[in-house]
Amino acid sequence: MHNLLTIDENSLVQQIDSLELKKRNISLCIKRDDLLHPLISGNKWRKLKYNLTAMQTQGKTELLTFGGAFSNHIHACAAAGKHFNFKTHGIIRGPELDLNNPTIKFAKQCNMQLYPVTRIEYRHRHEQAYLAQLKQQFPNAYLLPEGGTNLAALQGCKELAQSLPESDYIICPTGSGGTIAGLIEGVKPSTHVIGIAVLKQADYLKNEIKALSSRANKQTNWQLLCDYHGGGYGKFDAQLWQFCQTMQQQHQLPLEPIYSGKMMFALWQLIKADHFPAGSKITAIHTGGLQGLAGLRYRQLI
Ligand SMILES: Cc1ncc(COP(=O)(O)O)c(C=O)c1O
Repeated sequence: MHNLLTIDENSLVQQIDSLELKKRNISLCIKRDDLLHPLISGNKWRKLKYNLTAMQTQGKTELLTFGGAFSNHIHACAAAGKHFNFKTHGIIRGPELDLNNPTIKFAKQCNMQLYPVTRIEYRHRHEQAYLAQLKQQFPNAYLLPEGGTNLAALQGCKELAQSLPESDYIICPTGSGGTIAGLIEGVKPSTHVIGIAVLKQADYLKNEIKALSSRANKQTNWQLLCDYHGGGYGKFDAQLWQFCQTMQQQHQLPLEPIYSGKMMFALWQLIKADHFPAGSKITAIHTGGLQGLAGLRYRQLI
């Protein structure tokens, strides 16, 4: 394993020029964390960073984690293992492993050991007894939860917040809540953080975010918007996919419709509905996940 588990974190901040913004006197820039690293991109690196440090500090030499078959997290962990030269294990929500699935194919190429489990077994992934059994089975492994969200993950997202240009609003897509919780930890109280929930019935996430971040518990400078899920996790319609393609053509901003596209689509609707006062400075976080496009093409969903 490499001694220094680090990458260059100075990703681009892209200014978006558009008539919709100009006529409202709104400044919008995108923190292009999708460009952080070709394979360990976006919030995946931010969440992994201090987990990899913890893995080293605890004297562990392997990483074990959990994910769906098209998971960005599995992809990034496999890539990190290959890049920094440590062994990785992925417990995959199965029941079968489709070796032609591009995410699985990539994880295998990175030498991640893959263990498909039934959906019923997968449900136990947060339970202490199940985790204790895995620890026995993989004594050299550092266990990282699905999506990479835990307290160590917040630290990397907090640093991201502190690296951003002065903003009135920071917006990000929200799945498990780790990224927004870390951002809330890192912003000034005068900056408002908005999460766009990418899954249906996500109200419960507000409490999860508060449990992760003491600032989120105390402060009111954040909100989770739960009406922009577009039908549920992984669901999107032709209009959303068209929006992603238009953003690519007009602004050279690559998006996928599961996370970054859903966030930008929601943001655009909020801007057009005059949600933001004139003069607002908005920074949207591109959290990566573009590898997911290959999986959507593979399933002929785009
Ligand atoms: C590309 C991408 N963006 C955003 C998120 C959501 O982040 P979080 O789970 O920390 O809310 C994920 C999932 O972790 C993701 O893969």
